[in-house]
Amino acid sequence: MDRHADLLEVKDLRVRFGTPQGRVEAVRDVSFSVGEGETVALVGESGCGKSVTALSVMRLLDTAAEPDGAVLFRGRDLLKCSAAEMRAVRGRDIAMVFQDPMTSLDPLYTVGEQIGEALRAHEPVSRRQARSRAIDLLREVRLPDAERLVRAYPHELSGGQRQRVMIAIALACEPALLVADEPTTALDVTVEAEILQLLRRLQEKYRMALLLITHDMGVVAEMADRLVVMYAGRIVEQGRPGQAFADARHPYTQALFRSIPQPGTDRDRPLPAIPGAVPRLQEMPDGCRFHPRCPHAEDRCRTAEPPLLDLGGGRRSRCWLREPVLVETGGENA
Ligand SMILES: Nc1ncnc2c1ncn2[C@@H]1O[C@H](COP(=O)(O)OP(=O)(O)OP(=O)(O)O)[C@@H](O)[C@H]1O
Ligand code: SF4
Ligand SMILES: [Mg+2]
Repeated sequence: MDRHADLLEVKDLRVRFGTPQGRVEAVRDVSFSVGEGETVALVGESGCGKSVTALSVMRLLDTAAEPDGAVLFRGRDLLKCSAAEMRAVRGRDIAMVFQDPMTSLDPLYTVGEQIGEALRAHEPVSRRQARSRAIDLLREVRLPDAERLVRAYPHELSGGQRQRVMIAIALACEPALLVADEPTTALDVTVEAEILQLLRRLQEKYRMALLLITHDMGVVAEMADRLVVMYAGRIVEQGRPGQAFADARHPYTQALFRSIPQPGTDRDRPLPAIPGAVPRLQEMPDGCRFHPRCPHAEDRCRTAEPPLLDLGGGRRSRCWLREPVLVETGGENA
């Protein structure tokens, strides 16, 4: 296997949910890969299917979900694995960090017990060994006073400390892939920067691949080797962040990039929104799903959905316009 061989390959992923109003499709024809040690960023507005995609990889979707397609991890299709096989994969091969660390930590157990639990799920370690490894891991995620923190309960920690604990739990078995679903959204800007820096350092040290879901295009520019842009359950653009920043092909990617917080602006302010809203799953428009919000929509866009066109050099765009259309102004196309 060469060094850049795909660790994770998501192929034609489709996820539908049974709801009281009927079946809805949250994700369709999603295909992308993550190489060993690579960082792939998954971006898109709220409701575009990023978490559903991530949870499909971890097989953590709820029981109403009907996933289709393939999620190949080192060539093995996780969608076909049994629940017991998936328990062995989670933590050891792929770990996940969620947006809100409080909901993923158990309030009734100490930090040390929770890290120990993650270790013991995959390795026969004594309580003593688990405790000592937990202290090492807390140091690894740069938490001060690890000997004390190992005995602390989640409510005694700050948001940033909890997220570090979640990362320590994720690291416990040195997974080959870390899925991080908006790991810093709940944190303030300074803590966010520290956590991202930590992730990057750990990723290098452990040669871990990272599937990073984020709203923040600044984070993409800084961290990602490759970028996958999702809109309304579909991939609309794929490529290297550098290319995409300099020369985004899809009008949605262009609009997203206009919402990047600029240096010097107040990052606590909400990002400038793209006019209009992501369509509800029950009300997907015909043709290109972005057409009601697209300033370049033509007649064919309203009737026929474009395929994900290969533009060469690893770039793809789901738009009838092959050439990028320069966007003169932002925010006027409501
Ligand atoms: N269990 C479910 N049943 C029905 N619909 C669902 C379920 N889970 C997710 N969805 C729908 O799937 C779509 C995609 O949701 P998803 O959580 O993946 O969005 P997202 O891109 O992660 O958004 P955010 O940035 O807000 O986290 C949404 O329309 C959501 O309502
Ligand atoms: S296919 Fe048409 S509506 Fe869709 S993004 Fe391209 S130009 Fe806009
Ligand atoms: Mg989400």
